[in-house]
Amino acid sequence: GTVTRLEAEQAAITQGAVESNHAGYSGTGFVNFDNVAGSGIEFTARAAQAGIATLTLRYANGTAVNRPMSVSVNGGPPVTRDFAGTGGWSTWVSVPIAADLEAGANSVELLATTANGGPNLDYLDVPAPAAPGSEYQ
Ligand code: GCU
Repeated sequence: GTVTRLEAEQAAITQGAVESNHAGYSGTGFVNFDNVAGSGIEFTARAAQAGIATLTLRYANGTAVNRPMSVSVNGGPPVTRDFAGTGGWSTWVSVPIAADLEAGANSVELLATTANGGPNLDYLDVPAPAAPGSEYQ
C-alpha cells in the first residue's frame, strides 16, 4: 500500500537541530537532538481512515548507550522505547512503532527521557492503516 514518508527535518523539533554531516540519511538531513531530557519531535501523520498502522522510524545512535524516548500518539499515554547504539552515526536502523491512528491528522510525539537526549532521527514512514475488520497488516 501507499506509504507516506515524514522527514524528521520537516517535523516540529524541540531542542534539536537539522544536520547533514552523517551519510545515509533520507531527504535533506536528519535531526540531532540536544543532549537533554525533553528534547523531542512531533510528527503529523495523516490517515484516510482510522485503524492500526505499523509506523517505521529510522534512527542512528553512534554511542554505546541507549537513548530512550517516550512515544505518544494523539496525546495518549507515553510509551518509552529504547534506541540502542547502531554502531555509528552513519549506521541507520529502522524500528516499528504500532500506532492507533484516527482519520485525519495524528500527532506522533517523541521525547527523550534521559540527559543524553534522543538518537539522531531520519524519518517516520506512515502506511495506510488496515481497514477496520481486516487482517492486521
Ligand atoms: C555527535 C554526532 C551528532 C550526535 C551527537 C550526540 O556530536 O556528530 O550527530 O547527535 O554526537 O551525541 O547526540
